Amino acid sequence: MAKYLVTGGAGFIGSHLCDALIARGDEVRVLDNLSTGRRENLASEVEFILGDVTDEDAVQKASIDIDGCFHLAAIASVAQSTEDWVGTHEVNLTGAIRVLDAARATKFPVVYASSAAVYGDNASMPLCESDRASPLTPYGADKLGCELHARVASVLHNIPTTGMRFFNVYGPRQDPRSPYSGVISIFTDRLSRCLNIPIFGDGQQSRDFIFVGDVVRFLIAAMDRADTRAAIYNVCSGQSTNLRQLAQTLATVSGVTPQIEYLPARQGDIRASLGDPARAAKILNVRAEVSLGEGLSQTVSHHVTTTLDTSKAAE
Ligand code: NAD
Ligand code: UD1
Repeated sequence: MAKYLVTGGAGFIGSHLCDALIARGDEVRVLDNLSTGRRENLASEVEFILGDVTDEDAVQKASIDIDGCFHLAAIASVAQSTEDWVGTHEVNLTGAIRVLDAARATKFPVVYASSAAVYGDNASMPLCESDRASPLTPYGADKLGCELHARVASVLHNIPTTGMRFFNVYGPRQDPRSPYSGVISIFTDRLSRCLNIPIFGDGQQSRDFIFVGDVVRFLIAAMDRADTRAAIYNVCSGQSTNLRQLAQTLATVSGVTPQIEYLPARQGDIRASLGDPARAAKILNVRAEVSLGEGLSQTVSHHVTTTLDTSKAAE
């Protein structure tokens, strides 16, 4: 049994990670400012600290007596980073350095969320970890910055670090309420309300979607092996899906035919993003196991259940 700090633990990916850690008997502390996360996402066993990863005192306090930190707190929206360059930078990069700095004293391992956004306009298919990073957005540049600072933490301060380049993660609890939310959460929510679904651009842009339960297994495997080599792993399925195919699969799963509205493409939007999962498979012995159809079914069922619960509570 170990005690872990999960920054951003009240969010979508973080809360699933907390559930898995508790299920295997670990103790969990969460540091989260609830900007996009929700207290209700967390099980009662979790020790919760309301605070900001940019706040030195909050991070130091949250780091007391831990065996490791999963650093997931960030402003996860690529589009938001193009609008609020400095504000997102403070959270996404300075916040990560705060966490690494807190690890200097006791050398607890830090497994942190990087992103496929670091590859930017690198058109290699599929993308391997050794391929050139070429971010197109402040978000991608800051995630690359996290990787560089994590390397410094490992080399200079002997802090075990591992960077996880998440591709497009989806699943239950992904919040659809912001226009910047993940595309699957937005489409699922709008389909359930029989609204049209907006596609930015021609819908031929593609992504490597990975189910959140799979991502949790990658994170835990990485923590169990973290060392000062500052490894970086793709967290992906290795399957490419374009936005039109995604809309079609979701329609099949939810039984609703979507009205698609084509809108102008997003600034800095990546055209094709597909990862090579081989390194994580070889070294961490983890791979994505949930197919897109199965993952979307679970996502839709969860959305229907929580929407019903919310409307019953409102009656
Ligand atoms: P999320 O928005 O649900 O979770 C982020 C959490 O961090 C939230 O609980 C939020 O309240 C918290 N947070 C934000 N700013 C904070 C701050 N300054 N101090 C403390 N807490 C703060 O998003 P998510 O999808 O769960 O993303 C988790 C991590 O994974 C992020 O680092 C994100 O950049 C990364 N990531 C996500 C995806 C994806 O497809 N969802 C892909 C690549 C990388
Ligand atoms: C996502 C993550 C980001 C992560 C990156 C890694 C979110 C919110 N963002 O960025 O944290 O680092 O993956 O690959 O989870 N789209 C529509 N209609 C919509 C919403 C989106 O057509 O209503 C399109 C977008 O233009 C884009 C695609 O869907 O082409 C995916 O968008 P989005 O879910 O926002 O994710 P990314 O920008 O890929």
